[in-house]
Amino acid sequence: MGELYVKRELYELCINKPLPVNIYLQISSKFVCYKTKGDLIDTKTFQKLELQKINNIFIHENDLRIFLKCHLDSLIDTQEEEVEEETAKEPPELSNAKIESQRAMLDIFQAQHPDKAIAQAIKTSQKLVLEIMKLPFTTKALNLLQTYSKGSVDHSVNVSVLSVYLALQMGYANATILQTIGTGSLLHDIGKSKVNVFDNDTQEIIGLKLKEHPLLGLNLLQEEKTISSEIKSIVIQHHEAYDGSGYPNHLRGNSIHDLTRLISIANCFDHAITEAQGSLVERQKKSISILDREYYKLFDPLKLDKVLKILKLGI
Ligand SMILES: [Fe+2]
Ligand SMILES: [Fe+2]
Repeated sequence: MGELYVKRELYELCINKPLPVNIYLQISSKFVCYKTKGDLIDTKTFQKLELQKINNIFIHENDLRIFLKCHLDSLIDTQEEEVEEETAKEPPELSNAKIESQRAMLDIFQAQHPDKAIAQAIKTSQKLVLEIMKLPFTTKALNLLQTYSKGSVDHSVNVSVLSVYLALQMGYANATILQTIGTGSLLHDIGKSKVNVFDNDTQEIIGLKLKEHPLLGLNLLQEEKTISSEIKSIVIQHHEAYDGSGYPNHLRGNSIHDLTRLISIANCFDHAITEAQGSLVERQKKSISILDREYYKLFDPLKLDKVLKILKLGI
């Protein structure tokens, strides 16, 4: 009976609009219907639940898709909200991650894009990634990654926002898949937090040690039940290359997970942007031409075609 219900985070509830599905609470190991489809949870009721330290709600497993879709739609609806406002309410460690993320996001996207549709897709991606960053496990993981370097957190947030943005523009509309893309790319380099580099290590040794980070990342996530197998694939496979020259398993072509093939391109683009010189627009242009010139062998060519078209339209 318990298996019919799926545990979700309280903050995923759409407040101030009719519930798309029945909501259950777990009381004395029983699932009790708390609100039914069509009911409204207003801000006061939501705050009461928070005060009661109810962090999770349950929904029927058949309702998962519609529930997540409503959550994603509400992220799009509330895109006008100021990120700064949210930051003030968060615990300090999360605020730090968010401040980092805002800076990182601005480093890859123009603050205010002139094209309305592009601006909307960017905001939606940023919102979704900020929501994912609120999850207890991702907060913990990013704090851990911060011990390796702050730059890796910036990079992870950039790759995550860019991957979700590219996915949205490529027509991925399923909320669960977008959530997987956002989470997988946010965690893709988490294994770096387990790489031990010593002062006397040569560049060659550091390079060899770093090559272990996909496997170290997978080991870190292995125990975590809330992390799906798709997310684990993204972490272990993000340095595999389409021509089989990548690592750690020299996977080739479509044996690399579909979502990983997209995230690997975003990963490379963010590295190129960071290394390029000049204004943001100049760095974007240079990075696009590097991907165009040098990476057709390493990436899924159909995906790279689409990504380059989207990027050329102007991120
Ligand atoms: Fe990596
Ligand atoms: Fe990376």
